[in-house]
Amino acid sequence: MGSKPESIVVLTGAGISAESGIQTFRAADGLWENHPVDEVATPEGFERNPQLVYEFYNQRRRKLLSDEIRPNAAHSYLAKFEHEFEGEFLLVTQNIDNLHERAGSENLLHMHCELLKMRCLNSQLVFDINEDFGFDTHCRCCRSPGNLRPHIVWFGEMPFHMNKINQALESCDLFVAIGTSGNVYPASGFYQTAKIRRARTVELNLERTGSGFDEHITGKASEIVPSYFDSLLTNY
Ligand code: APR
Repeated sequence: MGSKPESIVVLTGAGISAESGIQTFRAADGLWENHPVDEVATPEGFERNPQLVYEFYNQRRRKLLSDEIRPNAAHSYLAKFEHEFEGEFLLVTQNIDNLHERAGSENLLHMHCELLKMRCLNSQLVFDINEDFGFDTHCRCCRSPGNLRPHIVWFGEMPFHMNKINQALESCDLFVAIGTSGNVYPASGFYQTAKIRRARTVELNLERTGSGFDEHITGKASEIVPSYFDSLLTNY
Protein backbone atom coordinates (compact mmCIF):
# COMPACT_ATOMS: atom_id res chain seq x y z
CA MET A 1 0.00 0.00 0.00
CA GLY A 2 1.34 3.47 -0.94
CA SER A 3 0.94 6.75 0.91
CA LYS A 4 -2.44 7.74 2.31
CA PRO A 5 -4.66 9.41 -0.33
CA GLU A 6 -5.81 12.95 0.43
CA SER A 7 -7.98 13.63 -2.59
CA ILE A 8 -10.02 10.97 -4.37
CA VAL A 9 -12.11 11.06 -7.55
CA VAL A 10 -14.38 8.08 -8.22
CA LEU A 11 -16.02 7.52 -11.62
CA THR A 12 -18.93 5.10 -11.86
CA GLY A 13 -20.65 3.53 -14.87
CA ALA A 14 -23.52 1.19 -15.58
CA GLY A 15 -21.76 -1.79 -13.95
CA ILE A 16 -22.32 -0.37 -10.44
CA SER A 17 -26.10 -0.42 -10.97
CA ALA A 18 -26.25 -3.82 -12.74
CA GLU A 19 -26.85 -5.72 -9.49
CA SER A 20 -29.68 -3.27 -8.68
CA GLY A 21 -31.51 -4.53 -11.79
CA ILE A 22 -30.61 -1.81 -14.32
CA GLN A 23 -29.22 -3.19 -17.58
CA THR A 24 -25.75 -2.09 -18.71
CA PHE A 25 -25.37 -0.57 -22.19
CA ARG A 26 -22.96 -2.74 -24.04
CA ALA A 27 -24.56 -6.14 -23.88
CA ALA A 28 -23.46 -8.67 -26.50
CA ASP A 29 -26.41 -7.79 -28.77
CA GLY A 30 -25.27 -4.14 -29.07
CA LEU A 31 -28.76 -2.95 -28.09
CA TRP A 32 -29.85 -0.81 -25.15
CA GLU A 33 -33.02 -2.33 -23.68
CA ASN A 34 -33.85 -3.77 -27.15
CA HIS A 35 -33.21 -0.53 -29.08
CA PRO A 36 -30.28 0.47 -31.30
CA VAL A 37 -28.50 3.24 -29.38
CA ASP A 38 -28.83 5.77 -32.23
CA GLU A 39 -32.64 5.47 -32.06
CA VAL A 40 -32.93 6.45 -28.41
CA ALA A 41 -29.71 8.17 -27.40
CA THR A 42 -28.88 10.72 -30.10
CA PRO A 43 -30.33 14.18 -30.95
CA GLU A 44 -31.00 12.86 -34.49
CA GLY A 45 -33.01 9.93 -33.10
CA PHE A 46 -35.11 12.40 -31.07
CA GLU A 47 -35.72 14.55 -34.14
CA ARG A 48 -36.72 11.52 -36.23
CA ASN A 49 -39.06 9.94 -33.71
CA PRO A 50 -39.64 11.97 -30.53
CA GLN A 51 -42.58 9.76 -29.51
CA LEU A 52 -40.34 6.68 -29.35
CA VAL A 53 -37.69 8.56 -27.36
CA TYR A 54 -40.20 9.97 -24.84
CA GLU A 55 -41.69 6.51 -24.35
CA PHE A 56 -38.27 4.90 -23.97
CA TYR A 57 -37.25 7.24 -21.13
CA ASN A 58 -40.74 7.09 -19.60
CA GLN A 59 -40.30 3.32 -19.33
CA ARG A 60 -36.82 3.66 -17.82
CA ARG A 61 -38.17 6.24 -15.31
CA ARG A 62 -41.12 4.03 -14.30
CA LYS A 63 -38.75 1.13 -13.74
CA LEU A 64 -36.29 3.24 -11.72
CA LEU A 65 -39.14 4.41 -9.46
CA SER A 66 -40.57 0.89 -9.01
CA ASP A 67 -40.01 -1.12 -5.81
CA GLU A 68 -37.73 -3.60 -7.62
CA ILE A 69 -34.87 -1.07 -8.07
CA ARG A 70 -32.80 -0.23 -4.99
CA PRO A 71 -29.19 0.84 -4.31
CA ASN A 72 -26.87 -2.12 -3.74
CA ALA A 73 -23.92 -2.56 -1.40
CA ALA A 74 -21.56 -0.76 -3.80
CA HIS A 75 -23.67 2.43 -3.80
CA SER A 76 -24.11 2.24 -0.03
CA TYR A 77 -20.45 1.67 0.69
CA LEU A 78 -19.36 4.65 -1.45
CA ALA A 79 -21.74 6.89 0.54
CA LYS A 80 -20.42 5.50 3.85
CA PHE A 81 -16.84 6.02 2.67
CA GLU A 82 -17.54 9.63 1.65
CA HIS A 83 -18.81 10.39 5.17
CA GLU A 84 -15.91 8.69 6.96
CA PHE A 85 -13.03 9.79 4.72
CA GLU A 86 -11.31 12.92 5.96
CA GLY A 87 -9.86 14.15 2.64
CA GLU A 88 -11.44 15.51 -0.54
CA PHE A 89 -13.88 13.18 -2.25
CA LEU A 90 -15.76 13.64 -5.54
CA LEU A 91 -18.06 11.05 -7.07
CA VAL A 92 -18.67 11.44 -10.82
CA THR A 93 -21.24 9.18 -12.41
CA GLN A 94 -22.10 8.46 -16.03
CA ASN A 95 -25.32 6.88 -14.80
CA ILE A 96 -28.67 8.60 -15.20
CA ASP A 97 -30.27 6.69 -12.31
CA ASN A 98 -30.57 8.16 -8.79
CA LEU A 99 -29.09 5.24 -6.86
CA HIS A 100 -26.02 7.09 -5.57
CA GLU A 101 -28.11 9.86 -4.01
CA ARG A 102 -30.60 7.34 -2.63
CA ALA A 103 -27.68 5.57 -0.95
CA GLY A 104 -26.60 8.89 0.65
CA SER A 105 -23.78 10.17 -1.60
CA GLU A 106 -23.49 13.96 -1.48
CA ASN A 107 -20.56 15.32 -3.44
CA LEU A 108 -21.88 13.86 -6.68
CA LEU A 109 -21.88 15.03 -10.31
CA HIS A 110 -24.06 13.43 -13.00
CA MET A 111 -22.00 14.05 -16.14
CA HIS A 112 -24.65 12.47 -18.41
CA CYS A 113 -27.51 14.14 -16.46
CA GLU A 114 -30.55 12.49 -14.90
CA LEU A 115 -33.58 10.41 -15.78
CA LEU A 116 -35.68 12.23 -13.17
CA LYS A 117 -35.23 15.61 -14.88
CA MET A 118 -36.52 17.22 -18.08
CA ARG A 119 -35.29 20.31 -19.90
CA CYS A 120 -37.04 23.10 -21.80
CA LEU A 121 -35.60 23.43 -25.31
CA ASN A 122 -36.28 27.19 -25.33
CA SER A 123 -35.01 28.33 -21.94
CA GLN A 124 -32.72 25.36 -21.09
CA LEU A 125 -34.34 25.40 -17.62
CA VAL A 126 -34.32 21.99 -15.93
CA PHE A 127 -37.29 20.57 -13.96
CA ASP A 128 -37.71 17.52 -11.74
CA ILE A 129 -40.03 14.90 -13.20
CA ASN A 130 -41.29 11.67 -11.63
CA GLU A 131 -44.09 11.01 -14.13
CA ASP A 132 -44.32 10.25 -17.83
CA PHE A 133 -44.02 13.24 -20.14
CA GLY A 134 -44.07 13.74 -23.90
CA PHE A 135 -44.84 15.95 -26.84
CA ASP A 136 -48.18 17.06 -25.37
CA THR A 137 -46.82 18.00 -21.94
CA HIS A 138 -47.04 21.73 -21.23
CA CYS A 139 -43.68 23.20 -20.27
CA ARG A 140 -43.59 24.78 -16.81
CA CYS A 141 -41.83 27.91 -18.10
CA CYS A 142 -43.24 28.44 -21.65
CA ARG A 143 -46.68 27.05 -20.72
CA SER A 144 -46.92 25.46 -24.19
CA PRO A 145 -46.49 21.82 -25.33
CA GLY A 146 -43.70 20.37 -27.47
CA ASN A 147 -40.72 22.07 -25.82
CA LEU A 148 -39.54 19.43 -23.36
CA ARG A 149 -36.85 16.80 -23.76
CA PRO A 150 -35.27 14.28 -21.40
CA HIS A 151 -32.37 15.91 -19.49
CA ILE A 152 -29.93 13.28 -20.73
CA VAL A 153 -26.61 13.76 -22.53
CA TRP A 154 -26.91 11.87 -25.80
CA PHE A 155 -24.13 10.76 -28.14
CA GLY A 156 -22.59 13.80 -29.84
CA GLU A 157 -23.55 16.15 -26.96
CA MET A 158 -21.24 17.70 -24.40
CA PRO A 159 -21.26 16.13 -20.92
CA PHE A 160 -22.04 18.43 -17.99
CA HIS A 161 -19.71 19.67 -15.18
CA MET A 162 -16.52 19.10 -17.19
CA ASN A 163 -14.63 22.08 -15.69
CA LYS A 164 -15.20 20.89 -12.13
CA ILE A 165 -14.42 17.30 -13.06
CA ASN A 166 -11.16 18.19 -14.80
CA GLN A 167 -10.05 20.37 -11.88
CA ALA A 168 -10.69 17.53 -9.44
CA LEU A 169 -8.91 15.00 -11.68
CA GLU A 170 -5.88 17.26 -12.01
CA SER A 171 -5.53 17.64 -8.25
CA CYS A 172 -6.46 14.16 -7.00
CA ASP A 173 -3.96 11.56 -5.83
CA LEU A 174 -6.25 8.56 -6.31
CA PHE A 175 -8.64 7.91 -9.21
CA VAL A 176 -10.95 4.89 -9.08
CA ALA A 177 -13.16 3.80 -12.03
CA ILE A 178 -15.99 1.42 -11.14
CA GLY A 179 -18.19 -0.58 -13.53
CA THR A 180 -17.46 1.30 -16.74
CA SER A 181 -16.33 -0.21 -20.03
CA GLY A 182 -14.21 2.85 -20.90
CA ASN A 183 -15.83 3.03 -24.34
CA VAL A 184 -17.26 6.51 -24.11
CA TYR A 185 -15.26 9.73 -24.30
CA PRO A 186 -14.47 11.86 -22.29
CA ALA A 187 -14.92 9.56 -19.25
CA SER A 188 -12.67 6.98 -20.93
CA GLY A 189 -9.76 9.45 -20.70
CA PHE A 190 -10.19 10.46 -17.04
CA TYR A 191 -7.48 8.11 -15.82
CA GLN A 192 -5.00 9.84 -18.13
CA THR A 193 -5.94 13.29 -16.82
CA ALA A 194 -5.52 11.99 -13.28
CA LYS A 195 -2.05 10.73 -14.16
CA ILE A 196 -0.89 14.26 -15.07
CA ARG A 197 -0.38 14.86 -11.34
CA ARG A 198 0.76 11.27 -10.78
CA ALA A 199 -2.44 10.04 -9.18
CA ARG A 200 -2.67 6.32 -8.59
CA THR A 201 -5.33 4.84 -10.92
CA VAL A 202 -7.43 1.82 -10.02
CA GLU A 203 -10.12 -0.05 -11.95
CA LEU A 204 -12.85 -2.04 -10.15
CA ASN A 205 -14.84 -3.99 -12.73
CA LEU A 206 -16.30 -7.37 -13.55
CA GLU A 207 -13.58 -7.73 -16.17
CA ARG A 208 -10.36 -5.94 -17.01
CA THR A 209 -11.15 -3.34 -19.69
CA GLY A 210 -7.64 -2.31 -20.76
CA SER A 211 -4.15 -1.91 -19.43
CA GLY A 212 -4.05 1.80 -18.60
CA PHE A 213 -4.68 1.56 -14.86
CA ASP A 214 -2.03 0.99 -12.18
CA GLU A 215 -4.22 -1.66 -10.55
CA HIS A 216 -7.16 -3.79 -11.70
CA ILE A 217 -9.50 -5.52 -9.27
CA THR A 218 -12.05 -7.80 -10.91
CA GLY A 219 -15.33 -8.98 -9.44
CA LYS A 220 -18.88 -7.89 -8.76
CA ALA A 221 -19.20 -4.26 -7.66
CA SER A 222 -21.29 -5.25 -4.61
CA GLU A 223 -18.31 -7.27 -3.34
CA ILE A 224 -15.18 -5.48 -4.51
CA VAL A 225 -16.32 -1.89 -3.81
CA PRO A 226 -16.91 -2.49 -0.06
CA SER A 227 -13.68 -4.44 0.34
CA TYR A 228 -11.52 -1.96 -1.62
CA PHE A 229 -12.84 1.17 0.12
CA ASP A 230 -12.75 -0.56 3.49
CA SER A 231 -9.06 -1.22 2.93
CA LEU A 232 -8.55 2.50 2.16
CA LEU A 233 -10.10 3.44 5.51
CA THR A 234 -8.27 0.86 7.57
CA ASN A 235 -4.88 0.18 5.99
CA TYR A 236 -3.12 3.47 6.58
N1 APR B 1 -19.89 -5.28 -11.16
C1 APR B 1 -18.86 -4.60 -11.75
N2 APR B 1 -18.80 -4.32 -13.06
C2 APR B 1 -19.81 -4.77 -13.83
C3 APR B 1 -20.92 -5.49 -13.31
C4 APR B 1 -20.93 -5.73 -11.90
N3 APR B 1 -21.92 -6.41 -11.31
N4 APR B 1 -21.75 -5.81 -14.34
C5 APR B 1 -21.19 -5.30 -15.45
N5 APR B 1 -20.02 -4.67 -15.16
C6 APR B 1 -19.10 -3.97 -16.08
C7 APR B 1 -19.04 -4.55 -17.47
O1 APR B 1 -18.07 -5.57 -17.53
C8 APR B 1 -18.66 -3.32 -18.30
O2 APR B 1 -17.23 -3.19 -18.38
O3 APR B 1 -19.60 -2.66 -16.23
C9 APR B 1 -19.23 -2.15 -17.51
C10 APR B 1 -20.46 -1.49 -18.13
O4 APR B 1 -20.09 -0.91 -19.33
P1 APR B 1 -21.14 -0.12 -20.25
O5 APR B 1 -22.40 -0.92 -20.37
O6 APR B 1 -20.43 0.25 -21.49
O7 APR B 1 -21.52 1.18 -19.37
P2 APR B 1 -20.76 2.56 -19.20
O8 APR B 1 -19.29 2.39 -19.27
O9 APR B 1 -21.35 3.20 -18.00
O10 APR B 1 -21.27 3.35 -20.48
C11 APR B 1 -20.88 4.70 -20.62
O11 APR B 1 -22.22 5.02 -22.58
O12 APR B 1 -24.26 4.59 -23.64
C12 APR B 1 -23.49 5.53 -22.97
O13 APR B 1 -24.21 7.44 -21.86
C13 APR B 1 -24.17 6.04 -21.75
O14 APR B 1 -23.28 6.56 -19.58
C14 APR B 1 -23.27 5.61 -20.64
C15 APR B 1 -21.92 5.52 -21.30
